[in-house]
Amino acid sequence: MRIDIITVLPGLLEGPFAHSILKRAMDNGLAEVHVHDLREHGMGKHKQVDDYQFGGGAGMVMMIEPIETLILALQAERTYDEVIFMTPDGEVFDQGMANMLSLKQNLILLCGHYKGVDERLREKYITKEISIGDYVLSGGELAAAVVSDALIRLIPGVLNNETSALSDSFQDDLLSPPVYTRPAEYKGMKVPEILLSGNFKKIDEWRHQMAEERTKQRRPDIWNKKHETND
Ligand code: ADE
Repeated sequence: MRIDIITVLPGLLEGPFAHSILKRAMDNGLAEVHVHDLREHGMGKHKQVDDYQFGGGAGMVMMIEPIETLILALQAERTYDEVIFMTPDGEVFDQGMANMLSLKQNLILLCGHYKGVDERLREKYITKEISIGDYVLSGGELAAAVVSDALIRLIPGVLNNETSALSDSFQDDLLSPPVYTRPAEYKGMKVPEILLSGNFKKIDEWRHQMAEERTKQRRPDIWNKKHETND
């Protein structure tokens, strides 16, 4: 999978891809992330990328031309499955969308800034708009990093144990059960007996039951949706 991220703040995206699982995925050639500094395609001497909005009002708007230039240059090199705009008014990101997008080959993620981007760019080039939640960030960069992380960890071979992405919270519409490690007792707090029993069938049953209880308690919305009847 290749992800091209278009941003006015490339520095914000240096950290997330330089560590741990994402770094290893890139080192192993399983994923490529290319961060493009929009300002390099800015207009005029000052490399302008934003301007006042027509009709007045506070806040600048990202101009169409620098973004179009960059998108067209990328599209001349390869076919993109989606050109995605990161914006709080997009479709809310979830595990289902992550699963679907993780099957794609090439994605462009455009990070919004200021008051947003000229609507004509959205209409002509953007194929999908994603929000990572109902709150407003200073820009789309952190959202693009979140989405990239969620997709890349699903690529086969990225996680050591391929089954571990499948047992993540949300993959089966259940939250994860509680987990414990050594010591078996800490300041009087004991690990549940069952986990020390060596009876893996019983342990699996216990984990499933805990996952169900947790989901019912913490995310009744997910639980009810899963158990909705069609009456
Ligand atoms: N840009 C600003 N806020 C955002 C959000 N919640 N999701 C995606 N992009 C954003």
